[in-house]
Amino acid sequence: MFDINGKVAVVTGGANGIGLATVKAILAKGGHPIIADYNEEAGKREAEALGIPFYKIDISDEEKVKEMFDDIIAKNEHLDILVNGAGIGGNSRPITAPDSLELAKRSFNVNVHGTLNCCKYAIAQMQKQGGNCAVVNVASILGVVSNPNSIGYSGSKHAVIGITKSLALENAPQNIRVNVLCPGFTDTAMFNKDLYGEQIYNYILGLQPLSKGTGRAANVDEQAHAIIFMIENSYLTGQSIIVDGGYTVQ
Ligand SMILES: NC(=O)c1ccc[n+]([C@@H]2O[C@H](COP(=O)([O-])OP(=O)(O)OC[C@H]3O[C@@H](n4cnc5c(N)ncnc54)[C@H](O)[C@@H]3O)[C@@H](O)[C@H]2O)c1
Repeated sequence: MFDINGKVAVVTGGANGIGLATVKAILAKGGHPIIADYNEEAGKREAEALGIPFYKIDISDEEKVKEMFDDIIAKNEHLDILVNGAGIGGNSRPITAPDSLELAKRSFNVNVHGTLNCCKYAIAQMQKQGGNCAVVNVASILGVVSNPNSIGYSGSKHAVIGITKSLALENAPQNIRVNVLCPGFTDTAMFNKDLYGEQIYNYILGLQPLSKGTGRAANVDEQAHAIIFMIENSYLTGQSIIVDGGYTVQ
Protein backbone atom coordinates (compact mmCIF):
# COMPACT_ATOMS: atom_id res chain seq x y z
CA MET A 1 0.00 0.00 0.00
CA PHE A 2 1.05 3.58 -0.60
CA ASP A 3 1.37 5.29 2.78
CA ILE A 4 0.12 8.90 2.78
CA ASN A 5 1.88 9.63 6.06
CA GLY A 6 4.62 12.22 5.50
CA LYS A 7 3.79 12.70 1.81
CA VAL A 8 3.54 16.13 0.18
CA ALA A 9 0.23 16.56 -1.68
CA VAL A 10 -0.97 19.41 -3.87
CA VAL A 11 -4.77 19.60 -4.03
CA THR A 12 -6.16 21.98 -6.64
CA GLY A 13 -9.66 23.18 -5.85
CA GLY A 14 -8.71 22.46 -2.25
CA ALA A 15 -10.45 25.54 -0.88
CA ASN A 16 -13.95 24.09 -1.22
CA GLY A 17 -16.11 21.05 -1.71
CA ILE A 18 -14.56 17.74 -2.73
CA GLY A 19 -11.05 19.24 -2.82
CA LEU A 20 -11.30 20.55 0.74
CA ALA A 21 -12.65 17.22 2.02
CA THR A 22 -9.66 15.54 0.34
CA VAL A 23 -7.25 17.99 1.97
CA LYS A 24 -8.71 17.12 5.38
CA ALA A 25 -8.57 13.37 4.66
CA ILE A 26 -4.90 13.59 3.61
CA LEU A 27 -4.12 15.60 6.75
CA ALA A 28 -5.87 13.01 8.91
CA LYS A 29 -3.55 10.36 7.44
CA GLY A 30 -0.42 12.32 8.38
CA GLY A 31 0.17 13.78 4.90
CA HIS A 32 1.17 17.36 4.11
CA PRO A 33 -1.53 18.80 1.87
CA ILE A 34 -1.16 22.16 0.10
CA ILE A 35 -4.25 24.01 -1.09
CA ALA A 36 -4.01 25.45 -4.62
CA ASP A 37 -7.10 27.39 -5.60
CA TYR A 38 -8.10 30.69 -7.17
CA ASN A 39 -10.62 31.46 -4.43
CA GLU A 40 -8.31 33.46 -2.19
CA GLU A 41 -10.79 34.12 0.59
CA ALA A 42 -11.81 30.48 1.11
CA GLY A 43 -8.31 29.18 0.41
CA LYS A 44 -6.64 31.42 3.00
CA ARG A 45 -9.36 30.78 5.56
CA GLU A 46 -9.25 26.98 5.24
CA ALA A 47 -5.45 26.81 5.04
CA GLU A 48 -5.06 28.99 8.14
CA ALA A 49 -7.62 26.92 10.05
CA LEU A 50 -5.77 23.71 9.13
CA GLY A 51 -2.26 25.16 9.51
CA ILE A 52 -1.21 24.29 5.94
CA PRO A 53 0.07 26.30 2.95
CA PHE A 54 -2.18 28.01 0.42
CA TYR A 55 -1.32 29.10 -3.14
CA LYS A 56 -3.66 31.38 -5.06
CA ILE A 57 -3.58 30.01 -8.59
CA ASP A 58 -5.62 29.91 -11.76
CA ILE A 59 -4.75 26.44 -13.04
CA SER A 60 -5.46 27.47 -16.64
CA ASP A 61 -2.43 29.82 -16.55
CA GLU A 62 0.49 27.54 -17.41
CA GLU A 63 3.21 30.02 -16.48
CA LYS A 64 1.72 30.59 -13.03
CA VAL A 65 1.23 26.86 -12.52
CA LYS A 66 4.92 26.29 -13.31
CA GLU A 67 5.93 29.04 -10.85
CA MET A 68 3.73 27.49 -8.16
CA PHE A 69 5.21 24.01 -8.56
CA ASP A 70 8.75 25.45 -8.68
CA ASP A 71 8.09 27.18 -5.37
CA ILE A 72 6.41 24.16 -3.75
CA ILE A 73 9.28 21.88 -4.83
CA ALA A 74 11.93 24.37 -3.66
CA LYS A 75 10.27 24.52 -0.24
CA ASN A 76 9.41 20.83 0.19
CA GLU A 77 12.14 19.16 -1.90
CA HIS A 78 9.66 16.55 -3.13
CA LEU A 79 6.10 16.13 -4.30
CA ASP A 80 4.32 12.81 -3.94
CA ILE A 81 0.62 13.35 -4.61
CA LEU A 82 -1.39 15.56 -6.96
CA VAL A 83 -5.18 15.78 -6.73
CA ASN A 84 -6.67 17.78 -9.58
CA GLY A 85 -9.92 18.78 -7.90
CA ALA A 86 -10.35 22.24 -9.46
CA GLY A 87 -13.06 22.38 -12.08
CA ILE A 88 -15.92 24.49 -13.30
CA GLY A 89 -19.41 23.60 -14.37
CA GLY A 90 -20.40 24.52 -17.90
CA ASN A 91 -23.43 26.52 -18.94
CA SER A 92 -25.74 24.39 -20.99
CA ARG A 93 -26.00 25.56 -24.58
CA PRO A 94 -26.87 23.92 -27.87
CA ILE A 95 -23.96 23.97 -30.34
CA THR A 96 -25.76 26.53 -32.53
CA ALA A 97 -26.19 29.12 -29.74
CA PRO A 98 -24.12 32.26 -30.39
CA ASP A 99 -21.97 31.80 -27.26
CA SER A 100 -21.73 27.98 -27.33
CA LEU A 101 -18.09 27.79 -28.40
CA GLU A 102 -16.93 30.55 -26.11
CA LEU A 103 -18.52 28.82 -23.11
CA ALA A 104 -17.17 25.43 -24.14
CA LYS A 105 -13.68 26.92 -24.40
CA ARG A 106 -13.98 28.22 -20.83
CA SER A 107 -14.78 24.73 -19.56
CA PHE A 108 -11.93 23.20 -21.57
CA ASN A 109 -9.49 25.88 -20.38
CA VAL A 110 -9.99 24.97 -16.73
CA ASN A 111 -11.10 21.34 -16.76
CA VAL A 112 -8.72 20.09 -19.46
CA HIS A 113 -5.85 22.55 -19.88
CA GLY A 114 -5.75 23.32 -16.15
CA THR A 115 -5.55 19.61 -15.33
CA LEU A 116 -2.85 19.12 -17.97
CA ASN A 117 -0.82 22.10 -16.70
CA CYS A 118 -0.77 20.69 -13.17
CA CYS A 119 -0.03 17.15 -14.37
CA LYS A 120 2.88 18.40 -16.49
CA TYR A 121 4.79 20.14 -13.71
CA ALA A 122 3.87 17.73 -10.93
CA ILE A 123 4.76 14.62 -12.95
CA ALA A 124 8.06 16.17 -14.09
CA GLN A 125 9.07 16.37 -10.42
CA MET A 126 7.65 12.92 -9.62
CA GLN A 127 9.77 11.42 -12.41
CA LYS A 128 12.84 13.32 -11.23
CA GLN A 129 12.57 11.94 -7.71
CA GLY A 130 12.17 8.36 -8.96
CA GLY A 131 8.40 7.80 -8.93
CA ASN A 132 6.26 5.98 -6.36
CA CYS A 133 3.73 8.80 -6.59
CA ALA A 134 0.01 9.18 -7.17
CA VAL A 135 -2.13 11.53 -9.26
CA VAL A 136 -5.91 11.64 -9.01
CA ASN A 137 -7.87 13.68 -11.53
CA VAL A 138 -11.51 14.58 -11.05
CA ALA A 139 -13.91 14.14 -13.97
CA SER A 140 -17.65 13.55 -13.57
CA ILE A 141 -20.46 11.18 -14.43
CA LEU A 142 -20.70 13.46 -17.46
CA GLY A 143 -17.26 12.17 -18.45
CA VAL A 144 -18.83 8.70 -18.72
CA VAL A 145 -22.32 9.45 -20.03
CA SER A 146 -23.66 12.72 -21.37
CA ASN A 147 -26.50 15.22 -21.61
CA PRO A 148 -27.75 17.30 -24.49
CA ASN A 149 -26.22 20.82 -24.56
CA SER A 150 -23.13 19.87 -22.58
CA ILE A 151 -20.31 20.09 -25.13
CA GLY A 152 -18.21 22.14 -22.71
CA TYR A 153 -18.67 20.31 -19.43
CA SER A 154 -19.30 16.79 -20.69
CA GLY A 155 -16.74 17.16 -23.48
CA SER A 156 -14.07 18.38 -21.09
CA LYS A 157 -14.78 15.70 -18.49
CA HIS A 158 -14.59 12.93 -21.13
CA ALA A 159 -11.20 14.38 -22.03
CA VAL A 160 -10.05 14.20 -18.39
CA ILE A 161 -10.73 10.44 -18.41
CA GLY A 162 -8.80 9.98 -21.67
CA ILE A 163 -5.90 12.04 -20.36
CA THR A 164 -5.86 9.92 -17.19
CA LYS A 165 -5.58 6.67 -19.16
CA SER A 166 -2.79 7.98 -21.38
CA LEU A 167 -0.80 9.41 -18.46
CA ALA A 168 -1.29 6.18 -16.52
CA LEU A 169 0.31 4.16 -19.35
CA GLU A 170 3.05 6.72 -19.95
CA ASN A 171 4.09 6.82 -16.28
CA ALA A 172 3.53 3.21 -15.19
CA PRO A 173 7.22 2.34 -15.82
CA GLN A 174 8.14 4.92 -13.18
CA ASN A 175 5.46 3.75 -10.74
CA ILE A 176 3.54 7.00 -10.98
CA ARG A 177 -0.12 6.01 -10.81
CA VAL A 178 -2.81 8.16 -12.42
CA ASN A 179 -6.50 7.54 -11.69
CA VAL A 180 -9.71 9.52 -11.95
CA LEU A 181 -12.74 10.10 -9.74
CA CYS A 182 -16.10 10.55 -11.46
CA PRO A 183 -18.49 12.06 -8.93
CA GLY A 184 -22.24 12.02 -9.30
CA PHE A 185 -24.39 14.78 -7.84
CA THR A 186 -22.67 15.89 -4.65
CA ASP A 187 -23.73 18.75 -2.38
CA THR A 188 -21.14 21.52 -2.92
CA ALA A 189 -21.07 25.08 -4.30
CA MET A 190 -21.39 23.46 -7.73
CA PHE A 191 -24.57 21.50 -6.96
CA ASN A 192 -27.02 22.55 -4.27
CA LYS A 193 -30.64 23.50 -3.65
CA ASP A 194 -29.99 27.27 -3.62
CA LEU A 195 -28.24 27.17 -6.98
CA TYR A 196 -30.78 25.03 -8.83
CA GLY A 197 -33.99 25.80 -6.91
CA GLU A 198 -35.85 23.13 -4.98
CA GLN A 199 -37.85 21.72 -7.89
CA ILE A 200 -34.94 21.21 -10.31
CA TYR A 201 -32.65 20.07 -7.48
CA ASN A 202 -35.15 17.39 -6.44
CA TYR A 203 -35.67 16.33 -10.05
CA ILE A 204 -31.92 15.91 -10.62
CA LEU A 205 -31.54 14.12 -7.32
CA GLY A 206 -34.32 11.72 -8.33
CA LEU A 207 -32.16 10.55 -11.25
CA GLN A 208 -29.56 9.22 -8.82
CA PRO A 209 -30.89 5.86 -7.52
CA LEU A 210 -29.23 5.93 -4.08
CA SER A 211 -30.76 9.36 -3.47
CA LYS A 212 -34.08 7.52 -3.26
CA GLY A 213 -32.73 5.32 -0.49
CA THR A 214 -30.79 7.98 1.37
CA GLY A 215 -32.92 11.06 0.71
CA ARG A 216 -29.81 13.03 -0.25
CA ALA A 217 -27.06 13.66 -2.77
CA ALA A 218 -23.56 12.29 -2.22
CA ASN A 219 -21.47 14.18 0.30
CA VAL A 220 -17.93 15.42 -0.12
CA ASP A 221 -16.49 12.89 2.34
CA GLU A 222 -17.83 10.02 0.22
CA GLN A 223 -16.00 11.48 -2.80
CA ALA A 224 -12.79 12.16 -0.83
CA HIS A 225 -12.87 8.57 0.47
CA ALA A 226 -12.64 7.29 -3.13
CA ILE A 227 -9.77 9.68 -3.89
CA ILE A 228 -7.90 8.37 -0.84
CA PHE A 229 -8.52 4.79 -1.97
CA MET A 230 -7.02 5.58 -5.38
CA ILE A 231 -3.97 7.21 -3.77
CA GLU A 232 -3.40 4.35 -1.34
CA ASN A 233 -3.96 1.35 -3.60
CA SER A 234 -0.49 0.77 -4.96
CA TYR A 235 -1.53 -1.46 -7.89
CA LEU A 236 -4.33 0.74 -9.26
CA THR A 237 -3.71 2.90 -12.31
CA GLY A 238 -5.64 4.28 -15.28
CA GLN A 239 -8.96 3.58 -13.57
CA SER A 240 -12.13 5.60 -13.10
CA ILE A 241 -14.07 5.24 -9.87
CA ILE A 242 -17.63 6.42 -10.26
CA VAL A 243 -19.26 7.52 -6.99
CA ASP A 244 -22.71 8.32 -8.32
CA GLY A 245 -25.28 6.36 -6.31
CA GLY A 246 -25.93 4.17 -9.36
CA TYR A 247 -26.64 6.95 -11.88
CA THR A 248 -24.53 5.55 -14.69
CA VAL A 249 -25.60 1.91 -14.40
CA GLN A 250 -29.18 2.66 -15.41
N1 LIG B 1 -20.50 18.63 -6.99
C1 LIG B 1 -20.89 17.81 -7.94
O1 LIG B 1 -22.06 17.42 -8.02
C2 LIG B 1 -19.89 17.32 -8.97
C3 LIG B 1 -20.31 16.32 -9.86
C4 LIG B 1 -19.41 15.85 -10.81
C5 LIG B 1 -18.12 16.35 -10.86
N2 LIG B 1 -17.74 17.31 -9.98
C6 LIG B 1 -16.36 17.79 -10.11
O2 LIG B 1 -15.73 17.77 -8.84
C7 LIG B 1 -14.70 18.76 -8.80
C8 LIG B 1 -14.82 19.56 -7.52
O3 LIG B 1 -16.05 20.26 -7.57
P1 LIG B 1 -16.91 20.64 -6.27
O4 LIG B 1 -18.25 20.08 -6.47
O5 LIG B 1 -16.15 20.33 -5.05
O6 LIG B 1 -17.06 22.20 -6.52
P2 LIG B 1 -16.60 23.47 -5.67
O7 LIG B 1 -17.07 24.62 -6.49
O8 LIG B 1 -17.04 23.35 -4.26
O9 LIG B 1 -15.00 23.39 -5.71
C9 LIG B 1 -14.28 23.66 -6.87
C10 LIG B 1 -13.04 24.45 -6.46
O10 LIG B 1 -12.24 24.64 -7.64
C11 LIG B 1 -11.75 25.97 -7.63
N3 LIG B 1 -11.45 26.38 -9.00
C12 LIG B 1 -12.32 26.50 -10.03
N4 LIG B 1 -11.67 26.94 -11.12
C13 LIG B 1 -10.36 27.08 -10.77
C14 LIG B 1 -9.21 27.51 -11.46
N5 LIG B 1 -9.25 27.91 -12.74
N6 LIG B 1 -8.03 27.52 -10.80
C15 LIG B 1 -7.95 27.14 -9.50
N7 LIG B 1 -9.03 26.75 -8.78
C16 LIG B 1 -10.22 26.72 -9.41
C17 LIG B 1 -12.87 26.79 -7.00
O11 LIG B 1 -12.41 28.04 -6.50
C18 LIG B 1 -13.36 25.84 -5.90
O12 LIG B 1 -12.68 26.06 -4.70
C19 LIG B 1 -14.85 19.59 -10.09
O13 LIG B 1 -13.90 19.18 -11.03
C20 LIG B 1 -16.24 19.23 -10.56
O14 LIG B 1 -16.38 19.35 -11.97
C21 LIG B 1 -18.58 17.81 -9.03
